[in-house]
Amino acid sequence: MFHKVNTPLFLAPQVGVTESPFRRICRKFGADVVLTEFVSADRICRGHRDIRTLKFNEDERPIGAQIFGSDPKIMVEAATWIEHNLSPDFIDINFGCPSKTVVKSNGGSACLRDLTLVENIIKSVVQAISLPVTVKIRSGWDESSRDPVGIALRCQEAGAKFLTLHARSRSQRFGGKADWDEIAKVVENLEIPVIGNGDVKSGEDAVKMKRDTNCAGIMIARGSHGNPWIFREARAALDGTPLPLIPTVKDKYDTLEKHINYALEFREDEAITMRHIKKHLCWYTAGIRNGKRVREELNTIHSLSTAREKLKYFFERELGSSPK
Ligand SMILES: Cc1cc2nc3c(=O)[nH]c(=O)nc-3n(C[C@H](O)[C@H](O)[C@H](O)COP(=O)(O)O)c2cc1C
Repeated sequence: MFHKVNTPLFLAPQVGVTESPFRRICRKFGADVVLTEFVSADRICRGHRDIRTLKFNEDERPIGAQIFGSDPKIMVEAATWIEHNLSPDFIDINFGCPSKTVVKSNGGSACLRDLTLVENIIKSVVQAISLPVTVKIRSGWDESSRDPVGIALRCQEAGAKFLTLHARSRSQRFGGKADWDEIAKVVENLEIPVIGNGDVKSGEDAVKMKRDTNCAGIMIARGSHGNPWIFREARAALDGTPLPLIPTVKDKYDTLEKHINYALEFREDEAITMRHIKKHLCWYTAGIRNGKRVREELNTIHSLSTAREKLKYFFERELGSSPK
């Protein structure tokens, strides 16, 4: 994946956001690699093997399935099951999630408090499966134990094929700024490819991150919300080719409709689709006149067909004609 494209662009794993329909949309607009949102290894091993968030379409490849957990044996069982039953392109281990529920069970960023455990988890999974194993880390558990280079070296030693650094500590959650100098230091000290992550919101940011850190790839999360076009913008900016036109209101409507169709195909149920897609629908209206009003309306609607009607009317009015 690193020799095919210069500085591949990754759609970041995001709970409740990066389900198959959105991943497919982002792939179409230039994301080179996508990941599933994280899934608890424990849940997989307890028989919840129908976890929908792990399912993907062939057009999403290359795709990584992300798991979290703190017990090496359970992580091995989950990774083995995923390899045999879903066969993604790689398995990514999450050592970055700051959420209380995940941390309470010692998963995600909580593992960063015990680097021997981190190493054991990676080594065990690497030995058990033939798919590449990758990791996503934060810079540390808290400010006093912040040591991205030390953590990254342990991950590399344990057999990670590449590593993503979200350059914030767990205690920062999403506050402050991601420290790109830390990404640069990790790049300098590691032999495996390092993916930079944190605060890339435009093509210009992507170029700046590449220049400042020399990272092998760039991962984007929040910058993709309502803006899957960020990937083609970042690609053009990185390659020095002419920047694509900014998406028009019509582009937004067409993409939103395609997203709904993918989501219906994926969920096979209108009410459930509506629950999962509502945030995306709101994000697509951001930055458009009267968007706030339509978002307020969408938040009170439970029926997908009513939401679709409202959005059609909203976009038609903005275009002064039918968006179709
Ligand atoms: C809604 C949301 C859900 C997330 N879920 C995950 C997840 O499942 N796994 C993971 O490794 N990181 C998760 N993250 C963190 C992102 O992958 C990323 O590291 C972080 O948002 C920083 O990147 P950004 O500045 O481009 O948003 C999540 C972030 C957000 C905003």
